[in-house]
This record gives sequence, C-alpha cells and structure tokens, in this order.
Amino acid sequence: MNLTNEEQDMLVGKHGEGIQKAMEILVALGQIYGARDMIPITSSQVSGVSYKNLGDAGLEFLQDWAAKGARVIVPTTLNPAGVDIENWKALGISAEFAKKQKELIDAYVAMGITPTCTCAPYMTGNAPKFGDHIAWSESSAVSYENSVMGARTNREGGPSALAAAITGCTPRYGLHLDTNRKASLVIEVECELKDHADYGALGYIIGKKAGPNVPYFYFRKNKNIRSDCLRTLGATMAAAGSVALYHVDGVTPEAKRYNMVFSYAERITVKDLSEGYEALNSDSQDIDFVAVGCPHASLDELGEIAALLKGKKVKATVWITTARKIREKAAPLVEEIEKSGAHVVSDTCMIVAPIEELGFKTMATNAGKAACYAPSHCKLSTRYGPLKKCIDAAVSGRWE
Ligand code: F3S
Repeated sequence: MNLTNEEQDMLVGKHGEGIQKAMEILVALGQIYGARDMIPITSSQVSGVSYKNLGDAGLEFLQDWAAKGARVIVPTTLNPAGVDIENWKALGISAEFAKKQKELIDAYVAMGITPTCTCAPYMTGNAPKFGDHIAWSESSAVSYENSVMGARTNREGGPSALAAAITGCTPRYGLHLDTNRKASLVIEVECELKDHADYGALGYIIGKKAGPNVPYFYFRKNKNIRSDCLRTLGATMAAAGSVALYHVDGVTPEAKRYNMVFSYAERITVKDLSEGYEALNSDSQDIDFVAVGCPHASLDELGEIAALLKGKKVKATVWITTARKIREKAAPLVEEIEKSGAHVVSDTCMIVAPIEELGFKTMATNAGKAACYAPSHCKLSTRYGPLKKCIDAAVSGRWE
C-alpha cells in the first residue's frame, strides 16, 4: 500500500505502540482487500462492547491497547453494552456482570471514546453527512449511514473501527469506492407495506437473497417512507444477510442524484411478505418478554408506544430500548410508558444483554433484527409482528 510519511511513521512505531498496533491492523486489512492507500475518516463507531460477547479475553485486549497509549483522534462513539448503566439492578442483571461491563466501558473511555452505548448514534450527535468517509461497525448503523445519509463506510469489525479511530484513517476499498456503491440487484416491491414490521419482513426476504449485491428498491405502493421504517429494513437485511448499503428509488440520497443501477443488474419481484413473517415466527403462544427498540427507538417510536400503553398494565416483562439522550429528551413519554410497568432501557438491548440468564422463554418483538438473532444469541423463541400486536401481547401475556 502507498502510505503517507505520517502513516509510515505510525506503522514503524514512531508514535508509540498503541498507534503502531492500530496501523498494523489497517495495513493488513488493506492488503487483504487490495486497497491502494488510506483515506482520512471523520467519525468512528465501535461495536464489541457487551461483556456477554467479549468476555475476559476481550476486556484484557482492550485494557492492554489502552495501556499502550492508544487514543482516538476522530469523534468516536460506542455501541450498546450488556447493561443499562444506571438501572441494571432493577432489570435483574448480576452485580458481577455489571462490574465487568463497567471495566470494559472504562477501557474504551480511557482511549477517548464517548460512551453513548447506542446503535443509533446518528440520533444523538455522531451524525456524519453525505459523502463523509467513516469507519463504523454496528451493522444497522452502517446500513443507515451508507444508505439513508449517503456517508461511506465498510461494515467494520470492532477492532478495525477502533484502529481507524486511533489513526484517523481507513483502507480505501469496498464501499468507499464509487463503483462498489452501484446496485446489482433490483427489487420491485408490488405489495403495499402497511406497518413498520412489514419492512423487517421484507428486509429478511431480501437479506437472504442479496448475497454480496447492493439492492435497489422500487416501492410501487409506498411513497414518503419514514426513516424508522428504513432503519428496520436496513437492520434486518444486515442481520439476515450481509447487506451494508441499499438504495430506494426517489428516496435515498444517491438514488436521487445519480443512476445507481448497473445495466446488468438482476431483477426480482416481491408480491407478499409471508416468507419473512413465517421465518421470523415460532408457534409459541405464551409471551413472557416483549422487546421493542431495535435499532434503538426514536422519539417518534416512543410516542407511539406511550400512546398504545396509555392506561394499561403489562403482564410480560417489557423492554423498550433507546439511546440515553433520547430517553432524557422524552421524559414525559418515558413516565407514561413506565406507568404501565414496562421498562424504558438505555445503554443496552435485548440481544447484547445477558437475557438468557433472566429465564424468559418467548420474546415478542416488532424488530426484524432482534427476531433474527434472539433464537441463537439469547436462546429465545420469537413472535414477530406489528407494534400494536406486541403491546397487546405485553398486556395479555398471549400472542393472539
Ligand atoms: Fe441495536 Fe441491539 Fe438491535 S445493538 S440494532 S438494538 S440488536
């Protein structure tokens, strides 16, 4: 790779061991993917925060890197951790887990990272703009930034996003290059999508079919698609498959500006969403856990949830997950939601918290990504459907 003098100095250790380690990771990645050089980045977002996923080996790795003097030099935020930092006890998380989680976050903070602990940092201040080159690692946020904001990032791993944050650059390959951002799969969506959950069901179907292709959607019956629906679509495609960028005709910014479809693109038609709903549902009827807010809920979503829960009491344990800053902004809505017995949870989520230790059997959710991951990551059966149905299940304890 062609490195600048400064990048070369980083690589040979002139700026210290912590920076050297970061540059070694990036050069190795660049060589694997044939990058000709590095590109400066304006922002980083680091996943790999939950103690459930990292364990002691991950904790030691991060503490060691911090001790070697690694410090981030671009604005960098953290993905959700394994606990709600202020409220872990009330949610039933063990003191031992919470202690280890705090040590992990402390290691990141020592490197200069802002511990936002959200998968939707674009709603709370880490909000890159069109054309920015960034290094993000949370798959739903990667999809949102690439597709809805028009920023440019590969789907980084936690260590490579952190290495980019420490050096301020990332190898120039993949979705940083114009040619790799064009679509090779066109999807004609002929059915009308009526609910947020429909976008997750569609995301599941296309995530499974897309492979390495960039999808380009024509929604024949839906105009003015809400960004919350796009968040769900992108998050579920990234969980069911590996989609990191998609376009929506007339909606997403690159599709509005340029011709983003290769002439040889394959075309498929989606006439109904049953394949997605069937794949994301078990046949369990009893619901003991309801989880909403994946990706972390927006103010609009909290408003809808508060309206649905008004005057009701929940029977199941309910987690509504959102960024701490959004929770603070939405204080009256949070109060309304919590009157029902539901918890508004920050810093973590239903997938990266140690849910399997809390004894739940079946989770109802309106989040396609959570429904994809819960059986394998949390040993939970799932019921997947619209928000209203999830709230009804929270109140009755049944999926009707
Ligand atoms: Fe966020 Fe957790 Fe879903 S990290 S995207 S709420 S699985």
